[in-house]
Amino acid sequence: MSADSSVLAYAERALEYADALGSIAAMAQEDRELIGRWAGEIDGPVLDVGCGPGHWTAWLHARGVDIVGLDPVREFVEIALDRHQECDFRQGTVEALDVASASLAGALAWYSLIHLEPPRIPGALMELARCIRPGGGLLIGFFEGPVVAPFGHKVTTAYAWPVAEFARLLDDAGFLVEEVHVRTDTGHRPHGALVAVRASGS
Ligand SMILES: C[S@@+](CC[C@H](N)C(=O)[O-])C[C@H]1O[C@@H](n2cnc3c(N)ncnc32)[C@H](O)[C@@H]1O
Repeated sequence: MSADSSVLAYAERALEYADALGSIAAMAQEDRELIGRWAGEIDGPVLDVGCGPGHWTAWLHARGVDIVGLDPVREFVEIALDRHQECDFRQGTVEALDVASASLAGALAWYSLIHLEPPRIPGALMELARCIRPGGGLLIGFFEGPVVAPFGHKVTTAYAWPVAEFARLLDDAGFLVEEVHVRTDTGHRPHGALVAVRASGS
């Protein structure tokens, strides 16, 4: 697997990140509600793409979701396997998922597409579309902003996206966007989330 700059940056700070943000308690209540509700409506295998230290994977597994966590950072996979031994975690990238076509009932990409340079996003969404079966779900969380723009995220460069722009790329990749969520929590950058369904016949 090629080690891009975000993978190298997270590898260096994986334990620090896991200790600061690798727990459900550190996640916003609104996000728990959205992710829990979304996953509760999915029947079948789910991939937590860019799972980091694995807290969302473990939380959803405990709620009965058939889920595997995947991250390109070996250090995150090792931490996740150690902290959540009941769960399955693998190393991999969203751009080349080692998953059979149309085999997933859903994919969660929670703040894991934020570091991809914008020209890489359509390919990543096409790969997710390949793996998610028609009618299957995709939930994406990201930094929201008025234009596509990079900024100095604490770990490595990230990109903010207008929800409409991200929704258009989802549409191009064969998804139907069903829900759009935007909010700004005090002390945080604006947040966006899109709930989409893999369209049939595209
Ligand atoms: C901000 S963290 C989010 C982690 C976790 N999803 C969460 O919500 O806490 C970004 C994650 O994206 C992962 N990531 C970076 N590039 C990726 C890629 N090409 N494919 C999948 N995940 C990637 C990083 O390794 C890191 O775990």
